[in-house]
Amino acid sequence: MKQITVVGVGYVGLVTAAAFSDLGNRVVALDISEEKIEGLRRGEMPIYEPGLEELVRRNVEAGRLTFTTTYEEALDEDSEFAFICVGTPSGVDGEADLKYVEASAKSIAEHMQAPLIVINKSTVPVGTGDWVAGIIKASQPKPIDFSVVSCPEFLREGSAIPDFMRPHRTVLGSMDREAADKVAQLHLPLRAPIVITNLRTAEMIKYASNAFLATKISFINEIANICEALGADVKEVAAGMGFDDRIGPHFLNAGLGYGGSCFPKDVKALAFMAEEMGIEPTILNSVMSTNETRRPLVVERVKEMLGGDLSGKTIGLLGLAFKPNTDDMRDAPSVDIAEGLIAGGATVRGYDPVSMEVASPMMPGVEMVDNPYDLAKGSDALVVATEWNEFKNLDLESIKASMKQPVIFDGRNIYDPDKMQMDGFVYRGLGRGYNGNGSNGMTIQEQDVETA
Ligand SMILES: NC(=O)c1ccc[n+]([C@@H]2O[C@H](COP(=O)([O-])OP(=O)(O)OC[C@H]3O[C@@H](n4cnc5c(N)ncnc54)[C@H](O)[C@@H]3O)[C@@H](O)[C@H]2O)c1
Repeated sequence: MKQITVVGVGYVGLVTAAAFSDLGNRVVALDISEEKIEGLRRGEMPIYEPGLEELVRRNVEAGRLTFTTTYEEALDEDSEFAFICVGTPSGVDGEADLKYVEASAKSIAEHMQAPLIVINKSTVPVGTGDWVAGIIKASQPKPIDFSVVSCPEFLREGSAIPDFMRPHRTVLGSMDREAADKVAQLHLPLRAPIVITNLRTAEMIKYASNAFLATKISFINEIANICEALGADVKEVAAGMGFDDRIGPHFLNAGLGYGGSCFPKDVKALAFMAEEMGIEPTILNSVMSTNETRRPLVVERVKEMLGGDLSGKTIGLLGLAFKPNTDDMRDAPSVDIAEGLIAGGATVRGYDPVSMEVASPMMPGVEMVDNPYDLAKGSDALVVATEWNEFKNLDLESIKASMKQPVIFDGRNIYDPDKMQMDGFVYRGLGRGYNGNGSNGMTIQEQDVETA
């Protein structure tokens, strides 16, 4: 039984702690937030993630998983590994803000009792591993051996547990091969290919991966604009492209663009790193500028659909979270869309199956309602902002009957344009060749598609 400390119980840290304890290790999970730790001790999850509550409960009951707010308690002479899983938000110029990483590295250094492998799971700029090693060395009250290993995390919110337990790969970077091998041993039960490289390369693999996925999203959104102008259907274009295994079907969903806690900040941070080194990040800059056009485009389209004027109109947002199966509202498109609609004079209401509590303070002008049917009542338009499964089979007949005008803007392309028009809706998706062209009737099996 290995003893692991996990620093930070957010989306990544709590999943890491629960998963490693489930694999038979003893895990102490630490956070500076008293509220989160007290809640976890009572069995309350600080975030919504499918399967997490059960996984945490099982391992707490088995005595393998405990929670603390103090580094004294989190690190003792048996601790072998400390995972840093704290946030790395965007700084003022788009750089990653490393204040939480710095604070946790200092606290680890001050409280470690025995040789320790410090593993950076947070997404951090290239070179941070060396910087963290310097901080630890400078902050130790007395010298104790340690090594720094980079182990970037690739899980997706909404499917974080299966992603963690069955990753496509584990990436490890260190200047200390023995330490990297020990961390590799910890990951062996996950049965994924393990890439061992140097610290900087491991840190770069994470940024390059996220930037590539964001590029796919901006690419298909640009194709959507062209499809729309030419009368083609981007959903079928993406499906037709996706059968080619050099392209693949994933991350080719045209829609509101990428959001959430990772892609926006990671693309920005990578562009910042490039610029610092005198390299113009041409592709990354285009990816970001394409993404920035998506949210205002929705406001514009809804306005067009409502006769060019939003004032006095009531608009319902179906879904608020940045993607389904999470309550994460960080950089969620719904926030900007609501602001744009309100600025145009509309009254905006919202419904989301799990994120309304988190969303409410971020969207003070938006009234939250209990279900999609209440949202539809008296609305001039509905906007699909998150592709929750529960929206895919709504009773559209009763939705239409209770709306003031049967207008639906489908920002996630979850409905069939022809069927919606046949059902009497004024319907638009993104890139769907709607202008009377309709779908060309191509028959495809629904793809296993993903969003960021
Ligand atoms: N969320 C994701 O889907 C995801 C996926 C892959 C990688 N990442 C990366 O993982 C990192 C963590 O992301 P997250 O979404 O889990 O963040 P989060 O904001 O949900 O959680 C971070 C936690 O760290 C705690 N914390 C901050 N300073 C601390 C300190 N000094 N000591 C102890 N705890 C401290 C905070 O209280 C918070 O609970 C980021 O670098 C992110 O880019 C996130």
